[in-house]
Amino acid sequence: MKLTTLLVCDAGLDKRQTIEELIHSQPTLALIGTVAGGMAREQIGSLHPKLVWIELSPAPVRGLSLLAELREAFPQLYFFVSYEVPDPELIRTAYRLGASDFLDAERWRTDLPAAVQSIMLKHQSESVSAAQGKVVAVFSPTGGIGATTICTNLAGYLSKHGETAIIDLDLQFGMISHYLNLEPSFSLSTIDFSHTNFDATYLRNLMTRYDDKLSILAAPPELEDIGDIYAAQVQEILNTAKQEFRYIVVDLPKNLLDERAIATLDLADHVLVLTEYNWAAILNARKCLDTFKAHYAQEKLLLCINRSEWLPHDVLSECRANLNYPVFAEIPNDAKTAKWVNNQGQIAPGHTALGKSLDQIGRRFTGQEKLLLTTGEQDKTGGFRLPAIFSKKK
Ligand SMILES: Nc1ncnc2c1ncn2[C@@H]1O[C@H](COP(=O)(O)OP(=O)(O)OP(=O)(O)O)[C@@H](O)[C@H]1O
Ligand SMILES: [Mg+2]
Repeated sequence: MKLTTLLVCDAGLDKRQTIEELIHSQPTLALIGTVAGGMAREQIGSLHPKLVWIELSPAPVRGLSLLAELREAFPQLYFFVSYEVPDPELIRTAYRLGASDFLDAERWRTDLPAAVQSIMLKHQSESVSAAQGKVVAVFSPTGGIGATTICTNLAGYLSKHGETAIIDLDLQFGMISHYLNLEPSFSLSTIDFSHTNFDATYLRNLMTRYDDKLSILAAPPELEDIGDIYAAQVQEILNTAKQEFRYIVVDLPKNLLDERAIATLDLADHVLVLTEYNWAAILNARKCLDTFKAHYAQEKLLLCINRSEWLPHDVLSECRANLNYPVFAEIPNDAKTAKWVNNQGQIAPGHTALGKSLDQIGRRFTGQEKLLLTTGEQDKTGGFRLPAIFSKKK
């Protein structure tokens, strides 16, 4: 399969020939014509290219408004934009307007193959399916339990089954990009919701790739940037991501009064509530589950114990009884791996306890293994008792 390509170029003959040669050098691109900006719209209408390459010189602003106009008229097309130098303002605007890539004359020879490859992959996956992705929201009522670690590693394993995105809604103190050792150029605060074409291409341009199966949408780098993101916009992001990715993992903030968190919980297919087997965490988890279970079915609301360790049977039974909710999964305590993966920007290897556990949980989300393994009443007998609040059953 070749991508038919139309070059839009008002620059001199030299520049035009250089770009034509570049296009010819790519085995998956087929140049079907070169036109001046003024003729672009008409020629696209008659030649039906899949990719349009717009050279911005000699008048970059005019070139960008042409991009905006063509993108609106032909939203299904891919656009490359090129210019002499990697001017940050031009790059930013081009991506905002929906360009798939920005190529500058200094590096286009080396950058072009990867840019073409990324479009080809996208084109193939778009043709194969417009699948509805599954949203897994990870929520921990207690801080420092391992929510972000579970997000990155679960997403890493889910990405083996289909393209996956992580959305870092821990807007104030998001750590996803740090745990994956990424340096995002854009974040949730870069999104311009007045953009006329808020679509999958636009969303992807704001994401940072971890590898070809996993991308992240980072939390804003600055605290003051989070005020402009509203619940309706989070819903728009998630709905768009669902069209584009097979799995979407969301790292939620601790604050349940946050309207963006509530919107995500409602929209999610699964809400993973994380806790540990310790008093304070159990207390918080119980409080949260008691509220959530009035709203969400058991397939949606999944209780997960992190850093699980051997405990005497009666203590374990008592912990479970006090949670008063079936345990979906227990992730073993594996401090060595957890520390290493977060420091190195890695996903827990399959031979580690953490990796094995997340691989298995991932399979349950993909349908390869049964989702709910534990059902029915929890063991309510045993050693210690939590405060009276727990004796009242909802
Ligand atoms: N299964 C595990 N076994 C051992 N250590 C773990 C495990 N999961 C996470 N950790 C460790 O727990 C610590 C906290 O992890 P993480 O930052 O993911 O938690 P969090 O719930 O997202 O925290 P925060 O409340 O700050 O957002 C990290 O040091 C991490 O390495
Ligand atoms: Mg976190």
